[in-house]
Amino acid sequence: MINAERLKREMQTISTFGALPQGGMSRLAFSQEEAQARAYIKTLMQALGMNIREDAIGNIFGRIEGELPLPSIAIGSHLDSVPLGGFYDGTLGVMCGLEAIRTIKENGISHKRPLELIIFSCEESSRFNMATVGSKVMAGKLSKEALSLLKDKEGVSLYEAAKAFGCAVETIESAKLSPDTFYAYLELHIEQGPVLENKGIPVGIVTGIAAPIRYELTLQGRADHSGATPMNMRSDALACAAEIILHVEKIAKEEAGETTVATVGFANATPGVLNVIPGSVRMGIDIRDIDAKALEKAAVLIEKGIEEIAQKRGLIYTLKELTHDTPVSLDKKIIETLEEEAKKLQIPTLELPSGAGHDAMHMPYVATHTGMVFVPCKEGISHNIAEEVNMDDVICATEVITKTLITLANEG
Ligand code: GLV
Ligand code: MN
Ligand code: MN
Repeated sequence: MINAERLKREMQTISTFGALPQGGMSRLAFSQEEAQARAYIKTLMQALGMNIREDAIGNIFGRIEGELPLPSIAIGSHLDSVPLGGFYDGTLGVMCGLEAIRTIKENGISHKRPLELIIFSCEESSRFNMATVGSKVMAGKLSKEALSLLKDKEGVSLYEAAKAFGCAVETIESAKLSPDTFYAYLELHIEQGPVLENKGIPVGIVTGIAAPIRYELTLQGRADHSGATPMNMRSDALACAAEIILHVEKIAKEEAGETTVATVGFANATPGVLNVIPGSVRMGIDIRDIDAKALEKAAVLIEKGIEEIAQKRGLIYTLKELTHDTPVSLDKKIIETLEEEAKKLQIPTLELPSGAGHDAMHMPYVATHTGMVFVPCKEGISHNIAEEVNMDDVICATEVITKTLITLANEG
């Protein structure tokens, strides 16, 4: 039912914004490249006759009225990427969401409820160490003060970056939505793991989303001469960081839960030159789990280990919690509807949890029902320029989500 050739063509076009010579793309939140991608999608939304609005953090909403003044069905994802990222994380969900709504409109399929496409702002945590900013703002979880405290590598705050991007961020409270704004929210996304590809299944039905607890850790030692300082007279912040990194790995691997993962994604040593003992290190710790208890346990054990290691080495540290989210179970009703529609289309599906974070985590605060579908990605690789999908799988998942949209849009 969908126009696969058009979807393919438009995916190719949007992939040019932020494309890198070596493949893949860098399209950071609130960057020029993201602005170009947003301008392009808005032209497609306008061509479809959508009523477009932008909120105070830059979330874009494109709406088509239904036959009745009921809460809408929304579908969407994000257009920002990690540095050296792939073309599909987020963007595929936006483009397939548009294709789903367009298919319904072009075929004159009746829908009682309005349909909305949402493009979320700043989903990736790569720039400001805070993920899913757009949906958190919609859910009323982020204040102006919080946005001012989040800084990128250049020291630009999220507040300043959003303002420079043209967002009316001073009125951030206006972007908070009421709990029943949407009747349902759906998101299509690449799996970012290997399960579907290994099993040869084209469509995943997501049962829940793992949540992160994240920290910024600063270790303060003493910069000193790397040649003249004896080994027993050093306060080496990077050596301390190394021990902490292995501790974080050990907790996730051996002591928290079956599904716990933990990562030190960056560790920046200062002054960071060959002949100076590193005086300080700033690092980012990302712990995630689908199991809330195991997530809390991992955080407690990691914090305890940091204290012990720093104390043993005589270093001062500051541990700032950046995020403390709770794992989300997705809506049973949506899971069933997605499965029924897939069955009618004779498309095999598999239920699975999401290890990656998504805006769908926060949408239950503003939508009565929330659900997600996954498309397999090659070798499970994501957040990497090598990210790849099979178009036949994309078509299957878009067909399933389109049919589900129609069913939900006609519920009273
Ligand atoms: C989103 O891409 C995440 O980091 O889970
Ligand atoms: Mn991502
Ligand atoms: Mn994503």
